[in-house]
Amino acid sequence: MMNSEWRERKKLYTILGIFTLISILYLNFSDSLFSFSSFPYLWQPKMDFAGVNRTRFVILKDEGGGVEEFYINGWNSYWLMAESVWGESRQRVSEILERGAAMGLSVCRTWAFSDGPAAGPNALQLHPGVFNERAFQGLDYVVAEARRHRIRLILSLVNNLEAYGGTTQYVRWAQEAGVNVSSSSDFFFTNPTIKDYYKSYVKVLLASQAVVTRKNSLSRIRYSDEPAIFAWELINEPRCTSSSCASDLQAWITEMAAFIKSLDHKHLVTIGLEGFYGQKTRKNLGVNPGEWTTSLGLDFIQNSATKNIDFASVHAYPHSWIPGANLTRRINFLSRWVDSHINDGENVLKKPVLFTEVGFPLGLQQGGSSERDTLLRIVYDRIYESAKKRRAGAGALYWQLLVEGMGKQYGDRFSLVAWQHPSTLKLITEQSFRLQNASYQSQTNTNLSHVSAKTP
Ligand SMILES: *[C@@H]1O[C@H](CO)[C@@H](O)[C@H](O)[C@H]1NC(C)=O
Ligand SMILES: *[C@@H]1O[C@H](CO)[C@@H](O)[C@H](O)[C@H]1NC(C)=O
Ligand SMILES: *[C@@H]1O[C@H](CO)[C@@H](O)[C@H](O)[C@H]1NC(C)=O
Repeated sequence: MMNSEWRERKKLYTILGIFTLISILYLNFSDSLFSFSSFPYLWQPKMDFAGVNRTRFVILKDEGGGVEEFYINGWNSYWLMAESVWGESRQRVSEILERGAAMGLSVCRTWAFSDGPAAGPNALQLHPGVFNERAFQGLDYVVAEARRHRIRLILSLVNNLEAYGGTTQYVRWAQEAGVNVSSSSDFFFTNPTIKDYYKSYVKVLLASQAVVTRKNSLSRIRYSDEPAIFAWELINEPRCTSSSCASDLQAWITEMAAFIKSLDHKHLVTIGLEGFYGQKTRKNLGVNPGEWTTSLGLDFIQNSATKNIDFASVHAYPHSWIPGANLTRRINFLSRWVDSHINDGENVLKKPVLFTEVGFPLGLQQGGSSERDTLLRIVYDRIYESAKKRRAGAGALYWQLLVEGMGKQYGDRFSLVAWQHPSTLKLITEQSFRLQNASYQSQTNTNLSHVSAKTP
């Protein structure tokens, strides 16, 4: 009995051993099979930096002078770095960039954060300031591939939500280091140790000449020198857990925007706000999707007016924000929301306003047309009208695009494989075309010495 049990186990161990060996061989082999994607880039297309001239984005042409106004049709694919860590999935990243470029899209917003155990084995930041080089090379791939496809990136530096670590992970790190903070994520904005964590993260990532000299492993270009980076975003969707942290949040925005500009004066900086109006300026409170927004410690006007913030960011999610509403109510809300923010950009902030996330579920209507198309058209038409008049509505980024077979891992009800939805695809592509035309028509030969990425 004992003997035969042992023999059985021995057999099992042998099988397990062989299986492990095969797995290791397979992983190594398949990695090298795909390692063509980790060859250095010998050639990169020429690209100029983006800047701001009053309420408009411009491309700062460094040859022959001149400034080209730049209206943005773009998209979000937050998963680019996660899918670039290992060779096998990198082709999804290349595919979405290629598809995006083919749709005339010019800017993609994606996560440049992935913090701690919550972000899984491929986290970019393992401990405060300690990077996982393998994941970092994944981000290198994203940046180099974006440039290859002439796509500009908005890179977000931390999540306010828990996905991929976020502010809660930073607070947990501080607790583990013996800092006396409770688990409230509001400490992210106030605690000096946690603020230093964020700063050391940003320092390494920006690889600014003055501080760290890491270069992109594929293109050999420092992130701070890379024109394919359109802007840095301080934090995705900041919110306080109570309105009492409003002034702390404002102070954090001021400090961090100045910090980034001190390391990297070439790139634009935005906050990552959803755009809720707040108690501080008490302007447009009625435009908010509900009363609940006033307890989040936010104030679109005050926050966006911050000196080193080059442009305002706004999101639009009528379905999540007004859950019970019918289509008429959503249309009314969305129209006012977009108009109001463009007007504030034009008249109050005097900065471009970029709708960095707009997301609508499919929502089939009677007759087969989709609610998504109806709402998307509202945003697109307003941006286009603004662009024609060269006002502050600078563009919109669709949330979010996937390629086939990714829905389970990365999908949400707003996600879309665009080429599977011809009507939406047409809408997006036409918007790209209209805005390219508007950019082209506004092309000027202004002396560029007056224009820079810096806020005046
Ligand atoms: C931690 O902070 C709380 C609240 O600020 C304070 O009451 C407590 O005494 C502090 N604990 C230690 C060990 O310093
Ligand atoms: C939609 O909701 C609004 C209230 O938010 C209501 O006044 C209106 O009658 C509703 N419309 C339809 C078609 O149900
Ligand atoms: C911004 O653009 C306007 C209109 O094209 C131009 O006249 C002006 O000189 C530009 N501003 C700066 C500071 O260059």
